[in-house]
Amino acid sequence: MKEQLERIRVSALEALAQAKESADLESLRIKILGKKGELTAVLKTMGKLSAEERPVMGQLANSVRAGIEEALEQRKKELAAAALEARLEAEAVDVTVPGTAPTLGHRHPMNIALDEVKEAAIGMGFRILEGPEVELAEYNFTKLNTEEGHPARDWSDTFYLKEDSSVLLRTQTSPMQIRAMEAIGKPPIRILAPGRVFRKDEVDATHSPMFHQIEGLVIDKGITMADLKGTLEAFVKSLYGEDCVVRFRPHHFPFTEPSCELDVQCFKCHGAGCPTCKGEGWIELLGAGMVHPKVLEGCGIDPDVYSGFAFGIGLERMAMRRFQISDLRLIFENDVRFLEQF
Ligand code: DAH
Repeated sequence: MKEQLERIRVSALEALAQAKESADLESLRIKILGKKGELTAVLKTMGKLSAEERPVMGQLANSVRAGIEEALEQRKKELAAAALEARLEAEAVDVTVPGTAPTLGHRHPMNIALDEVKEAAIGMGFRILEGPEVELAEYNFTKLNTEEGHPARDWSDTFYLKEDSSVLLRTQTSPMQIRAMEAIGKPPIRILAPGRVFRKDEVDATHSPMFHQIEGLVIDKGITMADLKGTLEAFVKSLYGEDCVVRFRPHHFPFTEPSCELDVQCFKCHGAGCPTCKGEGWIELLGAGMVHPKVLEGCGIDPDVYSGFAFGIGLERMAMRRFQISDLRLIFENDVRFLEQF
C-alpha cells in the first residue's frame, strides 16, 4: 500500500505540473481525490490492514492527500497568474499611437461679428434685448410713425401673416424700440436688440428675404444729436479701430427727426474710391436719428422731458465688411468649406 500511495503522489504531482488550464486541474482533482478517485480507492482497502499498519498508512495517506491538495492550489494560482499575464499582453494599448482628432466646430462668422457688436455695446452700458420675429403691424409700422398707406407697408415688400395686414414678419428690428420703451417705462433706457428681419426681396449677392439687424436705443433727459454722434463714432471705432474715419449724412426715416446715415471710409482705398466701395470712398454702415417726439409720446414718454436717439445696423453688411465676404449668399449656404475659413 505504501508504494501505491507513493506512486499516486508522484504521478499526481507530475500531472499537476503539466496541467495547462484550470479545467485540467479540476479533472485531475476528481480523478485522484474524488469519490471514485485513485486515492479514495486505496483508502477503501485500509480495512484489510492490520491494526498496527492502519494508523501508519492512515497518516501516510493523509500526508499524500495534503501534499496533492497543496500542489493543486499552488498550480491553480500559477495558472491564474499566467492567464492574467496573457490577457494583459493581448489587450495592451499603445498609448503612443496618435489618436483620431475630433472635428471641432466654431462660431459662424455672423455670430463672431454679432458678439463683437454686443461686447462693444455692453462696454458702453447697453442692455441686450430680444423680441418676436412675428410682429404686430402696429409695432413694426404704426407706433414707428409709419402710417397706413406708407409705401414701406406695401404687400409687395412685407410678409403679412393675416389678410387684414395686422400681423407680419418684422421688416426691421425698430419695433424693439417700442417694446423696450413699453417694457422699461421710465427712462433712462439703453438697449441693443439684435435679430432676424424679413422682406420680400429676391436673393442676390446683396439681398436676402431674411437678414439680420441690430437696433439700438438710448432715451434719457437731455440727450442730443451730439450724444448720437459721439456714441456712434466711439462705437464704430471700438469695432473697426481708432484710426477708422466716419461721416454722418442727412437722411430720412419716419421714426426719427432729424435722421442720418453713418458711413465709414472705405478700408480698402481709404476714401480714394475703389470697386469695394463702388467708387465712392465710403461705405454705408447704419441708419440713425433722434427719436421722433410722436414715437416717444405713443409709448407714454413725455418728449418735453426726455429725448433720445436710435440706430439700426445691418449685421450681414457688417460681417461682410469684417471678413471681406463678397457675396451675401455664402453666409447662409452653410458650406463648411466656406465656414471653415473663419
Ligand atoms: N429700421 C431702419 C431700416 O431698416 C434702420 C434704422 C434707421 C433704425 C434709423 C433706426 C434708426 O433705429 O434710427 O432701414
